[in-house]
Amino acid sequence: MEQKRYAVAVDGPSGAGKSTLARAVARELDITYVDTGAIYRVIALAALRRGVGPEDGPAVAALLPELSVALRHGDDGEQRMYLNGEDVSADIRLPEVSMYASAVSALPAVRAYLLEMQRRFARERSVIMDGRDIGTVVLPDAAVKIFLTADAEVRARRRGLELEQRGTPKPYAEVLAELRQRDWNDSHRAIAPLKQAADAVLLDTSALDFEQSKALMLKTIRERAGL
Ligand code: DC
Repeated sequence: MEQKRYAVAVDGPSGAGKSTLARAVARELDITYVDTGAIYRVIALAALRRGVGPEDGPAVAALLPELSVALRHGDDGEQRMYLNGEDVSADIRLPEVSMYASAVSALPAVRAYLLEMQRRFARERSVIMDGRDIGTVVLPDAAVKIFLTADAEVRARRRGLELEQRGTPKPYAEVLAELRQRDWNDSHRAIAPLKQAADAVLLDTSALDFEQSKALMLKTIRERAGL
């Protein structure tokens, strides 16, 4: 029997654990995980490489028609990002790309350019998609909407640990300041700001470890999607 198709939207500030949790949940439910932040990061990387300021709307918009952005999943289920045919999955994680991504994602031309790509993905298969505006703009009819958050200090500590493990450590104070700056940018932009959808379930993982957060997320999804 064919399984029913459904979408899970996961939104929240950076460092809330969206991607790690959504990836684990996708594996458990055998659905596709889509990290939409990665798509904005590809545009950011393109701007960075061409020396285009990320806040320069007209210049970034002029760049878009020259770009081919593709999102594919490998046999291992991992999402990979391509810019004009080049696999940029590693480069888009460079720390300098994060701030650029936050800035380019505030540009209406960029959001419009990427909207259909994200919707098309969700039409073709069951997905768990994470980002900032998935439940509010990209997939307003998603069967399940989760707003995942945690205190800024907890998120900064987690991010610091992640950077350390990647071999690019950074002082805690710096990580926290950058995270607060991105929170502010992402929730104060005029278009598709980060905010909880009215029908989203709020999950605060400040006091939860990974396994507890995952269990809570799975329970929420199974209940809401009627699995
Ligand atoms: O989740 P991330 O840190 O990889 O996202 C990078 C930036 O992209 C983030 O600062 C906000 C933006 N973004 C967005 O505006 N909308 C999304 N759906 C996903 C990410």
